[in-house]
Amino acid sequence: MPFEKKRIAVIPGDGIGVEVIAEALRVLERVRVTHGVELELAHYDWGADKFLASGVSLPPDALGMFSNEFDAILAGAFGDPRVPSNKHAEDILLGMRRGLDLYINLRPVRLLNARLTPLRDRSVEEVDFVVFRENTEGAYCGAGGFLKKGTADEIATQDELNTRRGVERIIVAAFEYARANGRKRVTMADKSNVQRFGGDLWQRVFKEVAAGYPEVEANHQYVDAMAMFMVLDPAQYDVIVSNNLFGDILTDLGAAIQGGLGLAASGNIHPGRVSLFEPVHGSAPALAGKGIANPIGAILTSAMMLEYLGHNQASQAVQQAVSDAISQDETTRDLGGTLSTSQAGVAISSRIV
Ligand code: NAD
Ligand code: IPM
Ligand code: MN
Repeated sequence: MPFEKKRIAVIPGDGIGVEVIAEALRVLERVRVTHGVELELAHYDWGADKFLASGVSLPPDALGMFSNEFDAILAGAFGDPRVPSNKHAEDILLGMRRGLDLYINLRPVRLLNARLTPLRDRSVEEVDFVVFRENTEGAYCGAGGFLKKGTADEIATQDELNTRRGVERIIVAAFEYARANGRKRVTMADKSNVQRFGGDLWQRVFKEVAAGYPEVEANHQYVDAMAMFMVLDPAQYDVIVSNNLFGDILTDLGAAIQGGLGLAASGNIHPGRVSLFEPVHGSAPALAGKGIANPIGAILTSAMMLEYLGHNQASQAVQQAVSDAISQDETTRDLGGTLSTSQAGVAISSRIV
């Protein structure tokens, strides 16, 4: 057998998550045939339906099971209008990110075809960068509280946690990636002109880490300016590093300039450990059940997972098939095509050779 068999947990989740993961699985089945990639899949039905029916979101033994028995997790999306608190999504998604210590949220922004970007006159070379989003702390640490809730004097605090260790490891990851992949520049986005304490820590650590990578240019922008430049001059970016919340916002903007949320892939990674792969988009309730969601974000996510598992050729073949299907206009309607979710999945999988 050419490859060691890897174990994958599949959690489609809510809304269009179910529809797009079905197409990612179609592609994984195809690379089994074309590239001999043997994966052992285990399916989990965690999401809003289960939470509403049983109160179970992320089962208590799930994290230990993933750490001990799995190589990767492939997830769809979590979020449902029937759960306005978003409690199950927080338990499952943020629970896995934090509980498995998946400190890198790697979100590539790559324009696959010039016609897809809403920016005027941009070539594919001009939109090609990678975002390193800190994924375990910052504004997502869950700390805060209410005082005098429900009164006119109510106070709500929402803490942002920045640890030396957490800041350092994501910045190191960004520079290591730049070095390993021949990227010339790492740009850090923060709001250190206002966030005096957390911002100061990020600034100091960025300068210290950058000193160890003299061949990589270290660049800084305030995040508000970066949002502007991402639209006006995306070609300047190679690798971006930012905190959890800014990274979340910047990567929806990044998704937009590469052609839309339906295309954007992500990996929640702790190198060497079980890692979680999911499209950037959410459950898109307005599209759910209609068979019109774009499966490319989920399919490119499965390509990221294949690369993480060491199946580089299969990963490249999937990415090439996605580009080819787009070039030949075999896409869902968000990209100007006429195909359903499953037809778009077939258009891609049948092009994998
Ligand atoms: P969303 O990403 O679900 O959708 C926003 C819009 O983007 C959609 O209305 C649609 O126009 C477009 N879009 C997204 N995915 C698409 C696809 N595959 N094909 C075509 N178009 C697509 O964001 P939202 O509407 O703000 O959130 C809906 C729910 O999803 C919320 O509960 C939210 O918390 C959750 N959410 C979950 C994740 C996740 O699980 N990783 C990510 C983002 C949002
Ligand atoms: C994402 C999503 C999540 C986040 C939500 C659903 C908790 O927006 O993966 O980008 O904010 O990280
Ligand atoms: Mn987001």
